[in-house]
Amino acid sequence: MNGQSNERADEQQLWDELRAAATEAMRSAYAPYSGYRVGAAALVDDGRTVVGCNVENAAYGVTLCAECGLVSSLHAGGGGRLTRFVCVNGEGDVIMPCGRCRQLLWEHGGAGLQVMTVRGVRPMSEVLPDAFGPEALEQVRGA
Ligand code: THU
Repeated sequence: MNGQSNERADEQQLWDELRAAATEAMRSAYAPYSGYRVGAAALVDDGRTVVGCNVENAAYGVTLCAECGLVSSLHAGGGGRLTRFVCVNGEGDVIMPCGRCRQLLWEHGGAGLQVMTVRGVRPMSEVLPDAFGPEALEQVRGA
């Protein structure tokens, strides 16, 4: 194998491992109301992997998406920036993060966060175009 196909193989393995971590996290989901289990996993810029699963509530609106747990784990474990992200359903299939969670991912990974989507790996700037983010607040503060 040449260097480039080695890199591709490494990249593929990395995503396979991340997806396996998301699938494993999904098995811990608490979803008695919807029956729809979700697992999420991300790489952090220091090499850590963080995971989360959805946790529902009898007061439906209080439900925590898998991404909420993942972001809490990111900070509880020392912080950092998310570099790659994937979430899966109860079958282990890749799903798109919901709208609210795209905003969460934007905050902690920014435009360059690589997301495994239903149409392959894409940057967060495509998953949440024209995002509202921290710099919008800075602009007003600085004015
Ligand atoms: N869910 C997530 O955990 N993340 C998403 O990005 C999509 C939706 C959960 C919330 C709820 O427990 C279940 O999926 C059905 O909406």
